[in-house]
Amino acid sequence: MIISVLTLFPKVFSPFLNSSILAKAQKKGKLKVDLLDLRKSGLGKYRQVDDRVYGGGVGMILRVEPIAKAIARLKDKDRKSKVILLTPQGKTFNQKTALRLAQEKHLVLICGKYEGVDERVRKLADEEISIGDYVLSGGEIAALTVIDSVSRLLPGVLEKEATKNESFSPLTIGDKRLTLLEPPQYTRPENFEGMKVPKILLSGNHPEIAKWREEEALKKTKKLRPDLLK
Ligand code: 6GU
Repeated sequence: MIISVLTLFPKVFSPFLNSSILAKAQKKGKLKVDLLDLRKSGLGKYRQVDDRVYGGGVGMILRVEPIAKAIARLKDKDRKSKVILLTPQGKTFNQKTALRLAQEKHLVLICGKYEGVDERVRKLADEEISIGDYVLSGGEIAALTVIDSVSRLLPGVLEKEATKNESFSPLTIGDKRLTLLEPPQYTRPENFEGMKVPKILLSGNHPEIAKWREEEALKKTKKLRPDLLK
């Protein structure tokens, strides 16, 4: 997958892109991230990218032309890319969205800024995504959230099993399709200050362990995230 990121702050991406799973995904050739400095598409001698709002009000919002220019250039090279605008007004991002976006070949992520974007920028995007009901100073952290959660789902990035039974992955229990939290997990030591690893996990009885995990995942979800079961 190629992810093109249109941002005023390309530098903030590098430490994340060069660490852990994201670094691995790129090294394996499963992911290419193309950081595009929006400033370079800015207007005039000062490469202007934002301006005051018509009708009055505080702050500077992103102008439409620099973004339109950058997207036109990308679309010239690849007409089938999916363009996503990251703003607090978008649809709330979740694992289902990540799974859907992981099917795409080329994502273009436009990072908004907190004061906002010219309404006409919205027309340039296929969809609009927010990562939650709070305001960030720009879309960069949201873009990194999308890049991270989507990249780890790309085939060949993690071991197949790794993303199958994790939190928020839909699974079928009995005849029901559910989205549950992960069951409790333990590693050594077997006994930490009197807190013991459940015996079943040491039993080697894999069908029983699978059953226990299902029950515990359901229990945990009921307790911590009952909204997921509605
Ligand atoms: Cl995508 N951008 C900004 N600026 N704030 C946000 C957001 C995005 N998602 C939640 N809050």
